[in-house]
Amino acid sequence: MTEEFHRIRRLPPYVFAEVNQAKAQARARAEDIVDLGMGNPDSPTPPHIVAKLVEAVQNPSTHGYSASKGIPGLRRALAGYYVRRFNVELDPETEVVATLGSKEGLANLAAAISSPGDTILVPNPSYPIHQFGFIIAGASVRSIPHTPDHAMLEALDRAVRHSVPKPTALIVNFPSNPTGLMADLDFYRELVAFAKKHEIYILSDLAYAELYYGDRVPPSILEVPGAKDVAVEFTSMSKTYNMAGWRMGFAAGNRKLISALTRVKSYLDYGAFTPIQVASTAALNGPQDCIDEMRKLYKERRDVLVKGLKQAGWDVPVPEAGMFVWAEIPERFRNLGSVEFSKLLLARAKVAVAPGLGFGEYGDTHVRIAMVENTQRIRQALRGIRGFLQGDNAGPAIEVGSDGVKA
Ligand SMILES: Cc1ncc(COP(=O)(O)O)c(C=O)c1O
Repeated sequence: MTEEFHRIRRLPPYVFAEVNQAKAQARARAEDIVDLGMGNPDSPTPPHIVAKLVEAVQNPSTHGYSASKGIPGLRRALAGYYVRRFNVELDPETEVVATLGSKEGLANLAAAISSPGDTILVPNPSYPIHQFGFIIAGASVRSIPHTPDHAMLEALDRAVRHSVPKPTALIVNFPSNPTGLMADLDFYRELVAFAKKHEIYILSDLAYAELYYGDRVPPSILEVPGAKDVAVEFTSMSKTYNMAGWRMGFAAGNRKLISALTRVKSYLDYGAFTPIQVASTAALNGPQDCIDEMRKLYKERRDVLVKGLKQAGWDVPVPEAGMFVWAEIPERFRNLGSVEFSKLLLARAKVAVAPGLGFGEYGDTHVRIAMVENTQRIRQALRGIRGFLQGDNAGPAIEVGSDGVKA
């Protein structure tokens, strides 16, 4: 019998598991850990969306298998959102497919369009499925920097010139998880022109489309004229409407890619539970003030967090968008790497964060701090961090044992 399965052999141990285990052990010892690790929204789904789900579930005709590509009204609602928000027209029949969260869509599109021997250009650091969707599909991944500027375009150019065979697709994710960086339309114009020139597909992940805090509003790559010739874009209900557990997202854009994803999905699933699709339709078509409130909430948390970290001596960039602070590890701890530093922060400051290594090797100089607890808990986390950074732990080279405690 096979010793180890080929695809499983390509999946390294889950980086976050070590910190998660240390967190579980601390909690088992009744320690109060402020968990700013995972990007799991803590606020409830708005009541009118929940009410629609409850109403739909009372109707027995919703209880059977649903439509894998999404019910027509839901695909129309997503097309309506693109018109309102981006002034982009989509044909709900051929240019939109509903997915079981955008993560599922990204993974199944990777399976649909790549095979062993293909090369895909993937940002590093980035959300893990961007890379591992293709790794699971057997393709090879080439890391590229993920800054929406000329450095990235030059790196892409180099990657295309030096990859054999030529890359077939490129992933981008702005606003980015984990960095919070945001692209503008001029950057997307250059990216689309580059992709057309080299005949490369673009997969744009716009999961954080609505989480922005300043005057700059995240654009869609599909706003670029002709982008649909090469690009598909993923959006998600998870963060926009606090519906992470509902598992509802979308892919929209290039017909060939949408058709490939729809085809693979037709073999794999029967669509999300119809009441979830009905409630998601209501969310997209209904009042949008819940999104303004959510933005206000995250902005307040962001400001408390960034200011408090600065007062603790940890200067971090202010994210313009997304739900994370991407913090470079303070210099005197940098030799530890992000996993050991995260364990140390947990042990000493009683705060859980995500080690940057979990987003790729170029993330190992940073940790990601998610704004998923209320300001009171964030202040508690900041007291712990300040005590840790300004306390007597602050020696230059701290040795850390497997439990995250100074050896
Ligand atoms: C950049 C990015 N893309 C996609 C996802 C997955 O979202 P969904 O819940 O729609 O699968 C996340 C979730 O955190 C994310 O950060």
